[in-house]
Amino acid sequence: MEFTKNILITGGAGFIGSHVVRLFVNKYPNYRIINFDKLTYAGNLSNLVDIETKSNYCFVKGDICSIQDLSDVFTTYQISDVIHLAAESHVDRSIEGPMEFVMTNVVGTVHLLQKAKENWSDGNHVFHHVSTDEVYGSLGEEGLFQETTPYDPRSPYSASKASSDHFVRAYFHTYGLPVKMSNCSNNYGSHHFPEKLIPLIIHNIVNKIPLPVYGKGENIRDWLWVEDHANAIDVIFHQGRLGESYNVGGLNEWKNIDLVKYLCKILDKKLNREEGENEKLITFVKDRAGHDARYAIDATKLETELGWKPSIQFEEGLEKTVDWYLQNQDWVEKVTSGSYKEYYERMYK
Ligand SMILES: NC(=O)c1ccc[n+]([C@@H]2O[C@H](COP(=O)([O-])OP(=O)(O)OC[C@H]3O[C@@H](n4cnc5c(N)ncnc54)[C@H](O)[C@@H]3O)[C@@H](O)[C@H]2O)c1
Repeated sequence: MEFTKNILITGGAGFIGSHVVRLFVNKYPNYRIINFDKLTYAGNLSNLVDIETKSNYCFVKGDICSIQDLSDVFTTYQISDVIHLAAESHVDRSIEGPMEFVMTNVVGTVHLLQKAKENWSDGNHVFHHVSTDEVYGSLGEEGLFQETTPYDPRSPYSASKASSDHFVRAYFHTYGLPVKMSNCSNNYGSHHFPEKLIPLIIHNIVNKIPLPVYGKGENIRDWLWVEDHANAIDVIFHQGRLGESYNVGGLNEWKNIDLVKYLCKILDKKLNREEGENEKLITFVKDRAGHDARYAIDATKLETELGWKPSIQFEEGLEKTVDWYLQNQDWVEKVTSGSYKEYYERMYK
């Protein structure tokens, strides 16, 4: 079959990447989707078993920091477009070891930009860079992040993502590379690695182990259903303006402690435990260094210009997420064995 596009999705075996790969493979049979992933601790091909035999999907194990790997995949598959999600993504890990974040998020992104620039001679391509709202820093009690908010990253993770965003813009302005960008709030949903707050809390409740909450749990995050993020990427990739950045978020702010208590309540019911039993597991631990107080996204530009809207209320999405984890304990077991366990012991014990 002749494909109309050969889209390289980097980090397609990760949490958000696997949802983006699934959406594109199922929705666009005339596109060939090449999932390019190094398979770090966060990448898991079992996230994609339902689509791995589709004729418009293929997986290539590769590293965005390797010029050879990138040359091979661009030549073999005649890559026409890129959706770039590969990254080191966990703030706590970036505090422990920033260099890995500089290498993958900054150096890897520049290698990928350079490879696209070398291979694309006309403007008929898209390089969509997926980024985070954490590049904007931390909010006080009022206000929302807009696309025009000055960058003010505070953690090694957000500093590395901010740097990658600047390079993407530089390739647009300097070389005319056809780029689009999106900056999204915190995602939640299925296949989320259980080092992140929501799956970590679900996992610990199920196993009756303490629920570590940083500081007093007062930090506020704006949560978005991962499939709504994947839909936003689809819309921006196809209809967004070149050189533009779009904020993605659901106006859904929660204090960490309220979210943890809400999960305790849902799971009291689902696990037939006494009301309040799970809350007893909450344990406040030493706050994360430089912990940003509040993130909140204004997605008006994406909504008015491209007609995107979140499809699901948080309470409904959270219930679906909890059900997915309860029904997929084997997935959780698989990804939490080995090196992640050692990391967890170091961070929270
Ligand atoms: N998770 C969120 O809430 C969130 C919110 C906004 C933006 N983002 C951004 O979205 C992207 C995906 O985030 P995620 O939560 O799915 O991350 P993740 O950690 O779950 O997945 C990252 C994927 O990238 C792969 N990878 C890492 N280094 C690589 C390399 N050098 N070469 C090739 N592949 C490599 C990993 O194997 C993994 O499959 C990241 O760029 C992140 O900054 C995440």
